[in-house]
Amino acid sequence: MPVQSEISERLDLLRQEISAHAHRYYILDAPIISDGEYDRLFQELLTLEEQYPALVTPDSPSNRVGAPPLSAFDSVAHRVPMLSLENIFSEQNLQDFEERLLRYLKTTDHPDYMAEPKLDGLAVELIYEDGLLTVGSTRGDGKIGEEITANLKTIPTIPLRLNLPEPPVRLEVRGEVYISLQGFRRLNEQRTKDQQPLFANPRNAAAGSLRQLDSTITAGRPLDFFAYGISEAAELPCRTQAEILTYLGRAGFKMNPQTKNCRTLSEVASHFNHLSAIRPTLAHEIDGMVIKVNNLDLQQRLGAKARSPRWAVAWKFAATQVTTRLLSVTFGIGRTGAITPVAILEPVEVNGVTVSRATLHNEDEILRKDLRINDMVLVQRAGDVIPEVVKPIQELRTGEEQPITMPTTCPECGDSLERKEAEAALRCLNLHCPAQKMRLLAHFAGKAGLDIEGFGIRAVEQLYQEGLISAPHDLFLLRQEQLAVLPGWGEKSASKALNALHKCKQTTLTRLISALGIRHIGEVTAQLLEDRFLTLDRLMAASADELAEIEGIGPQAGRSLTEYFANQGYQEMIAQLQASGVTIRPSKPSGALLPLVGKVFLFTGTLTSLSRSEAKARVKELGGQVASGISRKVTHLICGEKPGSKVDQAHHLGLAILSEDDFKMIVKND
Ligand code: IVH
Repeated sequence: MPVQSEISERLDLLRQEISAHAHRYYILDAPIISDGEYDRLFQELLTLEEQYPALVTPDSPSNRVGAPPLSAFDSVAHRVPMLSLENIFSEQNLQDFEERLLRYLKTTDHPDYMAEPKLDGLAVELIYEDGLLTVGSTRGDGKIGEEITANLKTIPTIPLRLNLPEPPVRLEVRGEVYISLQGFRRLNEQRTKDQQPLFANPRNAAAGSLRQLDSTITAGRPLDFFAYGISEAAELPCRTQAEILTYLGRAGFKMNPQTKNCRTLSEVASHFNHLSAIRPTLAHEIDGMVIKVNNLDLQQRLGAKARSPRWAVAWKFAATQVTTRLLSVTFGIGRTGAITPVAILEPVEVNGVTVSRATLHNEDEILRKDLRINDMVLVQRAGDVIPEVVKPIQELRTGEEQPITMPTTCPECGDSLERKEAEAALRCLNLHCPAQKMRLLAHFAGKAGLDIEGFGIRAVEQLYQEGLISAPHDLFLLRQEQLAVLPGWGEKSASKALNALHKCKQTTLTRLISALGIRHIGEVTAQLLEDRFLTLDRLMAASADELAEIEGIGPQAGRSLTEYFANQGYQEMIAQLQASGVTIRPSKPSGALLPLVGKVFLFTGTLTSLSRSEAKARVKELGGQVASGISRKVTHLICGEKPGSKVDQAHHLGLAILSEDDFKMIVKND
């Protein structure tokens, strides 16, 4: 019987060898032992670890076979939000992108770029602590994702330990999990044999495989991973995106060989053409090319808008277009009463997804495209996701085509429809229209609202039709015995649902405002409102002028808000929500610590070393606000070159007038 220390040594050796062979096989594509020899080493490791479970380490290759199943995924907050990218579609857009950068940075020096294939998979984040992979998560809503560590550990191209002599204390790696075209074909062949439903495309297959509670299922799927970035490079020896990629390659990640450092936009464009040309020969799907400002200091200065960074864009390949027949048009009704025509199409496959409906947006759109029922039409998936009807194929008309007529009454409640001047949508103005109420409820409970688990559109529809809910606060009055007896429910799902409702009762002002579904008020505007007013009472009491002063809130949004809060019906609805226990907690507990909270900046004249937008962004990052005109609320007037009359007015009001240098001192990043 060998002693424990010998076993331990043997295990160490096995792990090292297996990791090194796996790296040669999966990443370098240069194995030096046969598959059989590798399997024997692996088997020996598994057997020994089974005998001595206390000796299993978190970076052991045995993690690759999966772990015991979970009952649910935990949530993980991303320390740095995982943003998405703005899309561009042409060289002109590319030039506009650069012009915007130069304007923002106040420079005429053209930056250089990294151009990288845009893989069509799923973004994930991998956290390494002292070199060891500890947490892996999905992107989720960008702020909070799902913890899928055990699943990610099964992917052979994700290192369980970084191959760095002195790994950083913490490294957050980001990249794309995907399935190759060959892996996808094999997987579907297997599923055909097993009489299981097929995946529509590699992306869906990757998504389905990653979101398995049982990681041994994930382990059997041909998942792969390319790293493309890290969330924060301040502590690393990297000054550019190119250096980050090299660093990640050295750390043991598989890197995309088709990335290119481009000095000019024309180099960027030729790389795009190159990728389009080789696209059909690649082992995996790509849907475009990501272009990133290479220099990390510039990236930092450029920062991000609500959902996407200013320093990167995705240049998408032109969408695939196919033809099919427009069979009929139905009319849906949205939560704000807008009537939306929807094309019913003869089902057709576009890039692996079957399309049978597409929104036609509104009447003007139908007239502009001159669409008729029975037309053969060109269909594409915009940004490869949302299907749209591009145009009718006029040459194929037979004379059998029928014009599309818009309804004059609401398809749900029968009330007459109205179209306000300067608006594209026909609208049902009946606040009690059942379809609107239902949509509003679904919005309230859905992802863009309070995001109540288990209250998707189907559940909400069912509860509405059963007469259990008709206004948002009804949700919080639901009782176990009411839910448990519904078709498809039961004690367990009822108590789960009640739990989820209970959790969502405490929410943030931003979420609650988005959940109300006020026209023109989305999540981003809601956040601005929270930043400015902090409480619902103050927001509801805000005057039109106060709203107009907030940077980022236009006249339309302002009007919509004042109208909404002045409406007695909505006031009652909000009061009922509060009475049913909905409370608001601050979304940024550290808000009070931001140095510029309560300060209102106004800019005049030309700034020389940074652009107005960059200056405004800095103020907001630090918790301050930016005014667009002079008033007693302004606390700091920042004066650039050639200031206007605001300076005199500021003198009048006795305001502090500061220079650009003063400003830079105030917002300096310590
Ligand atoms: S950079 C803030 N680089 O594209 C920068 N993203 O809309 C955002 N993607 O789901 C990510 N290849 O996972 C970056 N080389 C690449 C990428 C890439 C694919 C995905 C990413 C995200 C989406 C961005």
